Amino acid sequence: MLVLGLESSCDDLSMALIHEGHLLANTTASQTLDHAPFGGVVPEIASRRHLDTLQPTLELLLQKTGKNLHEIEGIAATYAPGLVGSLLVGLNFAKSLAFALDRPFRGVHHIEGHLWSAFLENQPNFPFLGLVVSGGHSHLYWVRDFGDYQLLGHTVDDAAGEAFDKIAKLMGLGFPGGPAIEKIARDGDAKAFSFALPLVKANPLHTSFSGMKTAALEFWQGKGASGEGLKADIAASFQAGVVRALSVMVTRALAKFPARQLVVTGGVACNAPLREALAAIAAERSIDFVAPAPRYCTDNGAMIAYVGERYLKQGASSPLGINAKARLPLGEEIRV
Ligand code: KG4
Ligand code: ZN
Repeated sequence: MLVLGLESSCDDLSMALIHEGHLLANTTASQTLDHAPFGGVVPEIASRRHLDTLQPTLELLLQKTGKNLHEIEGIAATYAPGLVGSLLVGLNFAKSLAFALDRPFRGVHHIEGHLWSAFLENQPNFPFLGLVVSGGHSHLYWVRDFGDYQLLGHTVDDAAGEAFDKIAKLMGLGFPGGPAIEKIARDGDAKAFSFALPLVKANPLHTSFSGMKTAALEFWQGKGASGEGLKADIAASFQAGVVRALSVMVTRALAKFPARQLVVTGGVACNAPLREALAAIAAERSIDFVAPAPRYCTDNGAMIAYVGERYLKQGASSPLGINAKARLPLGEEIRV
């Protein structure tokens, strides 16, 4: 089935065409330069830019794939969670296309998309442990099958990517913060500052990043709040702290859940030290480790098209009345 997938939950508008799980092309209109001067995503700018880029992005995708609109057999778009203005623009465009072309439509949960972004180029091996680490989420799932998700743990405050972004902003490293921190951290000493391992008493599989954010602020201001060397040392130490916190979360989960595969997705999954640490945890247990190529870690239309096609092939379409939602949990949360 040839399915168009559209992702617009935050600042990137991305569209892709998938056919039988095979990605034909993915096209993204990035807004990084629009939001960089503000040090973060400005919701109204994001949704207005989506309106400008919808049609050119679709035209470019059709041009790249040599397909025409009438060959599309199904349409999928992210409907939750995310910035509501951004979601509404993409969702409404996708639903209108489905109505005009008389094709089935499927609303896709953004986090379900991220989980399956790992399988654009790999095969799942169930059950797997799926860590989604992005600007909005640090969630750990137990996945027994497509559509079967149990939430084992999550951050109780900031998401990992949000913490990277805030610390980068504090030190004037630009936006988005994750890639900037990773880059400067290469010149820093990861042992220069000690970031305590977060402890969430309520649930050993939960984590927290707001304490690390406060610690970074104190280290930065306490040492004079300037200098490339200080920036590099704080970046390297903070990054090591995040990697340790996520590694502990995953290790604890693997002790209770006998996964065949460890999967990491979301923008923070671009981070090389995190990928290396999780790959080592999987290797120690002789299980597969899967992380998408970095271009499919960050938000993309391909993951939405992939999930959309799977649902549409099962006949599980969504009503055209489906609305956008800023918040929506994925799967049932279980306590260990
Ligand atoms: O998945 P994504 O594109 O959007 C959301 O759904 O949030 O993730 C964006 C997040 C940002 O916070 C960004 O700083 C972070 O992913 N990120 C990284 C890296 N690349 C992107 N964090 C750490 N290291 C990176 N290399
Ligand atoms: Zn995302």
